[in-house]
Amino acid sequence: MTKEIVLTGVTTTGTPHLGNYVGAIRPAIEASRQDNTESYFFLADYHALIKCQDPERVKQSRLEIAATWLACGLDTDKATFYRQSDIPEIAELNWLLTCVTAKGLMNRAHAYKGAVDENLANDQDPDFGITMGLFCYPVLMAADILAFNAHKVPVGRDQIQHIEMARDIAGRFNHLFGEHFVLPEAVVGEEGSILKGLDGRKMSKSYNNTIPLFDTEKKLQKGINKIKTNLLEPGEAKDPDDSVVFDIYKSFSTPEQTAEMRQKFVDGIGWGEAKKELFALVNGQLSEPREKYLELIANPSHVEDVLQAGAEKARARARKMISDLRNAVGLVNFK
Ligand code: TRP
Repeated sequence: MTKEIVLTGVTTTGTPHLGNYVGAIRPAIEASRQDNTESYFFLADYHALIKCQDPERVKQSRLEIAATWLACGLDTDKATFYRQSDIPEIAELNWLLTCVTAKGLMNRAHAYKGAVDENLANDQDPDFGITMGLFCYPVLMAADILAFNAHKVPVGRDQIQHIEMARDIAGRFNHLFGEHFVLPEAVVGEEGSILKGLDGRKMSKSYNNTIPLFDTEKKLQKGINKIKTNLLEPGEAKDPDDSVVFDIYKSFSTPEQTAEMRQKFVDGIGWGEAKKELFALVNGQLSEPREKYLELIANPSHVEDVLQAGAEKARARARKMISDLRNAVGLVNFK
């Protein structure tokens, strides 16, 4: 039986927070343990260059994200874990795909359109500050996915359009040069997999409402104490379904613990007490991986070895794909 290939990438511009853990890292690692799937997880560091021209930030973020996935228990014998920029075949495929991608398709990309709209709203030239990297972002993403013929691509809602574009591009290439590519499908986590941030909106770096995943225990506590609550006093009933404290609690608790906490809310638990219980729960689950994370951050050469081994595994497959594609488009040797 051929295994289903699951692939996803993480842009290396930030430091992982609790929302990344609950929404992406934890479910991906759990799924990678199943026997009927083959997982490819990578650091999208070429993509990072589109949004971030701060080399130190890119460098640091790559290490932090790699260390986070390893500390959270990713089994790199089972899953293939690598850096996008270590796979030159992805850059080559990017070009082959660029040559069959309609410009009009890229014109419709939300991220690009959003940037143009913002320029227009500010009375700027529509192209102000827009690089070809941003414009062609979806082609590079298609190359990431198609290089390994992934079937399923777990992503956030904001990325669904990019997966649809990857399908379009794959279909166009197949039509021109034969059936080389599987048409990938986006997999979006259920509603419950999106964690709320300090202010009640989705936890996201761009809203500045995150709680870091592996900062010190103190910082975790501080973050939890900053969660916005209302003015209800201890003893007054609280609505668990309208509370960030409860939202985060339930993302880490067993069904029994969730039911107990729900009852405590109804019974009027004080906000201080609820936050204390939240901290104990989350910290209990994070303290072991946190230690591992700190060890890895202090030992980047080990992380490098793991990523190099991952790149070797990934390249073996990507090389084969690229060699078939070069033949298909006419880039053949004369002997
Ligand atoms: N664009 C994705 C994001 O910002 C990251 C990414 C890059 C990705 N390449 C990918 C995700 C390929 C899935 C597959 O979240």
